Amino acid sequence: MRSWAKLAALAWVAASSAHADEPIKPGVDYHSFANVSEFRVKHVLLDLDVSFKTRTLNGHADLTVLRENPNARVLVLDSRDLDIRSVSLVGKDGSTTPLTFKFGDEQKYRGRPLNIDMPEAPPTPAATTGKRFAAPESVIRIDYSSQPQASGLQWLTPAQTNGKKLPYLFSQNESVHARSWIPLQDSPQVRATYDATIRVPKGLVAVMSAAHGPVSKPDANGLVAYRFEMREAIPSYLIAIAVGDIKFHAISPRTGVYAEPGVIDAAAAEFSDLERMVATCESLFGPYRWGRYDILILPPSAPFGGMENPRLSFITPTVIAGDKSLVSLIAHELAHSWSGNLVTNATWRDFWLNEGFTVYLERRIVEQLYGARRERMEDVLGVQSLRSELADADPPHQQLAVDLRKDDPDDGVTDIAYEKGKAFLSFLENRFGRDPMQAFLRSYFDHFAFQSIYTEQFLDYLRANLLTKKPGAVTEAQIQEWVYGPGIPADAVLPSDEVFAPVDAARKSWLDGKLSTASLPARDWSTQEWLQFLNNLPANLPRDRAAELDKTFALSKSRNAEIAMSWFVVAIRADYDPAYADLQHYLLTIGRRKLVRPLYEELMKTPRGAALARATYTQARPGYHPITATAIDLIVQPNKN
Ligand code: BES
Ligand code: ZN
Repeated sequence: MRSWAKLAALAWVAASSAHADEPIKPGVDYHSFANVSEFRVKHVLLDLDVSFKTRTLNGHADLTVLRENPNARVLVLDSRDLDIRSVSLVGKDGSTTPLTFKFGDEQKYRGRPLNIDMPEAPPTPAATTGKRFAAPESVIRIDYSSQPQASGLQWLTPAQTNGKKLPYLFSQNESVHARSWIPLQDSPQVRATYDATIRVPKGLVAVMSAAHGPVSKPDANGLVAYRFEMREAIPSYLIAIAVGDIKFHAISPRTGVYAEPGVIDAAAAEFSDLERMVATCESLFGPYRWGRYDILILPPSAPFGGMENPRLSFITPTVIAGDKSLVSLIAHELAHSWSGNLVTNATWRDFWLNEGFTVYLERRIVEQLYGARRERMEDVLGVQSLRSELADADPPHQQLAVDLRKDDPDDGVTDIAYEKGKAFLSFLENRFGRDPMQAFLRSYFDHFAFQSIYTEQFLDYLRANLLTKKPGAVTEAQIQEWVYGPGIPADAVLPSDEVFAPVDAARKSWLDGKLSTASLPARDWSTQEWLQFLNNLPANLPRDRAAELDKTFALSKSRNAEIAMSWFVVAIRADYDPAYADLQHYLLTIGRRKLVRPLYEELMKTPRGAALARATYTQARPGYHPITATAIDLIVQPNKN
């Protein structure tokens, strides 16, 4: 065969395997069973008892459902591991009529569809209203309980809390875990208001991502009822609850911190800039539209650094470093009040619209509040972490608009969405100027406020409202490469690492033996400078050099969770075993996936490390959140699915 024919044959093979799948349809949520073009849930009412004894939520959800298609007869909801007792139609007078329902088959990452037979739509009043058909609302009541292993909930024993006396419960719905404790249309393109009555044993406090209503006196069973109301329509992944020994400390009239009593003072001091952050974000990107902004400090098993639940971000205690050096995470969760909560990704393919935009906003806030140097350092560290993420990702997963149909959407949480997304916006800022970019973003948030959009809707808006401002400044081909291409485009405007030059020089001299460990200028290093130093040490650092660092700077005992993580990676690589007891303690107390996953990965690279990883994980797993356990299972027990 001549070589051109060979090439043509290869091209055909490539093309046919690419078409083995249907092309992805923008705007379609492949991670939800909900038939959203036939019915739309508009409001969710929750009435739930919290039982720490059985680790279940028990009660009912009333869904106010709008019929979009008059011929639709089956309402399909998302569910995972739910015990459904009954489904009924609630009449205007409160009377209930039973409805039949059945579960469909379980699907990977998606749970099970819950199919509810709906009554026929009332006759069409077309002649009188002039509308094609009436779209009446009905209220569907689902009596149910969650199960102890609900993927969206973590039930903690008293021993896993700071106070050690009372149990704790918190939810983490993003991406697709709302369905494990509420039967609903679990898709970010469905927005609903919600209200809730939550009954908890007296002595415990319930909070939700909503306005807080009155609290009842204990009833005959010793249960206290908390009431909540969210008046803005939000996607299901932003419904959130926590129950525990929770106290409140006001920072300003509209901001404050919730935490366990033993943590509240440290938290209030660390996050004393909360009001300034909100004010800064408003001055940059328009009014804060959610009323209050509070944060809840979770126990250390929280699987994420932060979760932008509206009015009440959930935050890992691992950002309490004592010196505010990790507070950009709060800026990040706050910024989601614009990018994410106000304008929401319609599907998990569009996750970069949430996270890339939010990292851009976060850096703008950090720059304003903590200075350009700090912002620059965080930007450089972000790009480093993007590069190492890219090195491990196959090309299709390097796209901003990413096809996750075969994936767990929780695995879409990579720096490609975050840092490449941010780099795209920085590229646009560079081409159009900071002020025009800011004006553009403000108008974008206004235009799409309280809507869920997909990538192509953003691109249309971008073409019409920014690209036209300076014709030719950015070509369509450049946009296409940024959004649908792999890697970092060559036209990217990345931060110069000049800001770390002194640290890099110190590291080099130290490695070359020209600078002693004691003479490293590290006493003045910020957290970011320490991360730059540690993250860029050679993988084959000799054990005795690691030992010197630890003896001089007590890195194994660092109370800064990020520095400790970077240090433990160095220690594992150098097989510096005096660090292992502290490493083990770290893995047993912290459950944040981003901090523990790299450590297990590093340990699994050698037989000795693997043994330590397995022994530690056996002990740690019961205390990890389901999301973290899912991730670590894949690393430590690669053959077990
Ligand atoms: N929304 C994310 C967390 C998330 C994403 C949870 C996808 C589940 C699925 C949150 O805003 C976030 O990005 N948290 C980061 C911190 C941030 C500073 C990069 C985290 O948890 O590390
Ligand atoms: Zn985020």
